[in-house]
Amino acid sequence: MFETIRWREGKVEILDQSRLPLEVVYLSCREVGEVAEAIKTLKIRGAPAIGIAAAMGLALGAQSLSARDFREFQRGLRGIASQLAATRPTAVNLFWALDRMQAYAAAHREEAIEQIKQGLVGEAQRILEEDIAVNRAIGKWGAALIPDGARILTHCNAGALATGGYGTATAPMRVTVEEGKRIHVYADETRPVLQGARLTAWELMQDGIPVTLITDNMAAQFMRRGMIDLAIVGTDRTVRNGDVANKIGTYGVAVLCKAHKIPFYVAAPISSIDFSLATGKKIPIEERPPEEVTHIQGKRIAPEGVQVANPAFDVTPARLVTAIITEKGVFRPRDLRRLADPNADLETIRIREAPHTTR
Ligand code: MRU
Repeated sequence: MFETIRWREGKVEILDQSRLPLEVVYLSCREVGEVAEAIKTLKIRGAPAIGIAAAMGLALGAQSLSARDFREFQRGLRGIASQLAATRPTAVNLFWALDRMQAYAAAHREEAIEQIKQGLVGEAQRILEEDIAVNRAIGKWGAALIPDGARILTHCNAGALATGGYGTATAPMRVTVEEGKRIHVYADETRPVLQGARLTAWELMQDGIPVTLITDNMAAQFMRRGMIDLAIVGTDRTVRNGDVANKIGTYGVAVLCKAHKIPFYVAAPISSIDFSLATGKKIPIEERPPEEVTHIQGKRIAPEGVQVANPAFDVTPARLVTAIITEKGVFRPRDLRRLADPNADLETIRIREAPHTTR
């Protein structure tokens, strides 16, 4: 199994996803600027993976800070965090991870600066390890929703490549396969950057999980012909009322699921839930360079000078979401807000089986 990102001998090594599936190459980052650039240019992408990269980037940047006291060190850390925070606006994991890293430093302010620097490396590695454990828990809860023989549609890449490992949307698929059930995954190619074709198809094939690649505009017809039983996608930011920001095109998949009475599930680690926002209206949506639309692999496919819109994400309203699969269980979107309360009795709101079957 490949590693999406790792800390090795004082450097951050990133599997360069812009070169997959043609080449498996690791990028070695020695300074925080290189990590920021890797996030911005999608060499590492996917909400949880972006969070891990930001945490490691902050730890990396911290190593070269020379500060006489903690206050000065903290100011330096803030500067590095702003540089990393400016890379991509939508995935909340980025900000979550930067906050957690800075909170770690603040909690250890009495220690020697050199010791805090080492501690930050450990904290970034913990974020990575915890992410994999969270994904396995998502897989366990989500597998209960998947019947033997299920044909599952997914959009973009919310797999091992988008996380520390194991994936979010792919986790229930992986657990189902580990339990000996049969599944078949349909992967939307996911224009404009083709994360489905380049990444999801590649990683599922690596693991021997049956996958068929389709273009985005084929999903409707496959549903109409009864060839999709359920959809599972990931999320970059889900908010209190259960509105879900995810890769552009996700909203379309959810509308199609509704029209064909197919369950639409969202796999969301709690680090991807922004409890500070009440609805999806305030989620910042990243606008990406027009070349992603006018070119494919560096080759122009649209007329020179054409106007282009390229929002990278859309927001699916909670009413189209059948359930949200988290590491703490499966919940209806309307019950999500209860997760913000550490004392909530989640047992009363957990869903343990598929809420409805398709046929
Ligand atoms: O632009 P990307 O490739 O970073 O977008 C990624 C997605 O939209 C994923 O579906 C989402 O981050 C969930 S990843 C577990």
